[in-house]
Amino acid sequence: DESKAGVKGLADAGITELPRFFHAPPHLLHDYPTAAAGDPNFVFPVIDLEGGAWEQDPGKRKRIVAEISDASANWGFFQVVNHGFPASLVAEMKAGAHRFFELDVDEKKQYYSHDMRKKVVHHSNLNIYTVPTINWRDTIMFQMAPDPPEPEELPACCRDVVTEYSREILKFGELLFQLLSEALGLKPDHLKEMGCAEGVNLLYNYYPACPQPELTLGTTQHADVGFISLLVQDHIGGLQVLHRDHWVDVPPDSEGIVVNIANLLQVMSNDRFTSVKHRALVKSVGPRASVVAFFGVGYASGSRVYGPIEELVSEENPPRYRKTTVEDFLTQSYKQGLNGMSFLDNLR
Ligand code: SIN
Ligand code: FE2
Repeated sequence: DESKAGVKGLADAGITELPRFFHAPPHLLHDYPTAAAGDPNFVFPVIDLEGGAWEQDPGKRKRIVAEISDASANWGFFQVVNHGFPASLVAEMKAGAHRFFELDVDEKKQYYSHDMRKKVVHHSNLNIYTVPTINWRDTIMFQMAPDPPEPEELPACCRDVVTEYSREILKFGELLFQLLSEALGLKPDHLKEMGCAEGVNLLYNYYPACPQPELTLGTTQHADVGFISLLVQDHIGGLQVLHRDHWVDVPPDSEGIVVNIANLLQVMSNDRFTSVKHRALVKSVGPRASVVAFFGVGYASGSRVYGPIEELVSEENPPRYRKTTVEDFLTQSYKQGLNGMSFLDNLR
């Protein structure tokens, strides 16, 4: 089957013109202008975690919490640097992506599926039938927590690093949820106790060099579904976030970790935090690899109910969303495909 060779298969065949089905419609490509590099009105927030020193130092902790609060409210996105998460593990994780996508098609195709209930799913586009445009991207997703796949279900070329990364990113996520709880004015364990650091899916995105990058998208604009997503890109860059009606480049930093507030946390925060649209452009250089850790809840906890956190609502600040079961939230979100924002409006 041709399509199982993925976008990489097309790029390797040496095409010089982008096939028509990758051409993105103009209303998606040109919805908002891109902010000029260096424009002082669009400086993407970077937060220095000082190597974890904030854990002992109340002054540093206060500054970091204030910066996180500000960025989560105004941007829904920020990049943490000097974060204490091992740089070598980030580098090795990205190397694992290159090893997987460079496997022979015959080896990769055993993971090829569009059944999102599987724990390891490799494909070229999230849902080829409902997406508004086909992306210049191959992916593989690993559902790592709370119920990981058997080791032998993971591709041997990245099994060890994916396993270690999921363990370490869950720990790192717990630290971030402490800071995010405090940024909401809650006690440090609040979000953890609500189950925010229990479920994690890891995604490898792989964007080959593209012959006509200005005609297509690597990842169509969308907002993430769960609590938060933690993303690492490489030196090539391409991730953009929507801020005040402009696309803003997230500065490529091979060691930085990009924190993205997702839809469910916007609901829980009663709109104190915002989940914003983002997209990935492709370039004529590549391949570019990115790694996303999605912190969320799966269908296994479908009967859990989430809504605005009680401590954050009052008579003056009433709940802006209905409560929803996880089951309903996920079903509605996936039905919307890469456009989950309108579902949030239905919850209001
Ligand atoms: C995503 O938001 O899922 C991907 C963005 C990226 O690859 O930078
Ligand atoms: Fe995303």
